[in-house]
Amino acid sequence: MKDYLASDSRYDVMQYNRCGRSGVLLPKVSLGMWHNFGGVDDYQRSRAILCHAFDCGITHLDLANNYGPPYGSAEETLGRVMDEDLRPYRDELFISTKAGYDMWPGPYGNWGSRKYLMASLDQSLRRMRLDYVDLFYSHRYDPNTPLEETLQALVDIVRSGKALYVGISRWPLEATRFAIDYLKQHDVPLLIYQGRLNMFDREPINEGILDLCHKEGVGFISFSPLAQGLLTDRYLNGIPNDSRMARGKFLRQDMLSDELLQQLRQWNQEAQAKGHTLAESALRWILDQQGVTSVLVGASSTEQLDKNLKCINP
Ligand SMILES: NC(=O)c1ccc[n+]([C@@H]2O[C@H](COP(=O)([O-])OP(=O)(O)OC[C@H]3O[C@@H](n4cnc5c(N)ncnc54)[C@H](OP(=O)(O)O)[C@@H]3O)[C@@H](O)[C@H]2O)c1
Repeated sequence: MKDYLASDSRYDVMQYNRCGRSGVLLPKVSLGMWHNFGGVDDYQRSRAILCHAFDCGITHLDLANNYGPPYGSAEETLGRVMDEDLRPYRDELFISTKAGYDMWPGPYGNWGSRKYLMASLDQSLRRMRLDYVDLFYSHRYDPNTPLEETLQALVDIVRSGKALYVGISRWPLEATRFAIDYLKQHDVPLLIYQGRLNMFDREPINEGILDLCHKEGVGFISFSPLAQGLLTDRYLNGIPNDSRMARGKFLRQDMLSDELLQQLRQWNQEAQAKGHTLAESALRWILDQQGVTSVLVGASSTEQLDKNLKCINP
């Protein structure tokens, strides 16, 4: 790829949803950098996906401190792409990162302490070569740290200017309610909740998280909306060598039971009857749920991204 100049038509097709009751609009399709952007991946392919995403109006990129592998390297990839291509467009981008899972050895590189969150965000900013992130998340609920400590760290991070907004991911219902109240009282309203919601995994609906977010004016973004690729045509006829399931770590081959395949084939047929692909209809299903702001897809190629973007067509 030569010198990058963003497409003039980048805002022609994408649609944007208001994130809860905030001033922020997020694209209906956002891009996650959990896989395919690490130090082990082909940098030019990662770069092409990021630039193509931006050309398609995907303004929201989602990271975490430990995305890679190795840990931290997805943030480094973004930092390099910022310097090489995207820096002129910084104000058109909404970049998030997180801390909450294991990142560095010892007692201060995991969970939800003030010590960990503050130090981790400083590291993330250095790796991404950014002055601030748009959104910083507590990546998971920590049952052993007082919620006030984690939440006050989020408040202070916003006050320091290192993040503009804060979010939480994978927090249970009652803790989420507490977070919403605490942050509201401290004038840093919770912008967004990140949870796994897809046609297989409906827990945020069943548990009441989505409804709570909707009522409280908090946005909701669905991670792994394609169930890591299961809700596409990727595995309908076997396990391709270059697929996430073939690599095995996060998507196990023994998940692909006859029963699951039968369900996937049925959904695939239903989608095709409506003139859609399975991936498109899986993403549409999420976007149709009341309270959902965006789907946070992953992609190992620009072609996959293009296929997934068809979900925003009328
Ligand atoms: N908060 C959390 O705890 C948490 C947890 C997980 C994820 N996340 C966020 O959510 C983002 C997305 O997660 P995810 O990568 O699991 O999302 P996903 O969209 O469910 O799965 C993405 C994978 O599915 C395959 N795929 C995508 N589109 C396809 C298509 N059209 N046809 C065939 N295969 C397709 C690709 O895998 P192949 O490699 O097989 O091509 C791709 O890497 C992450 O990057 C991260 O930002 C957050």
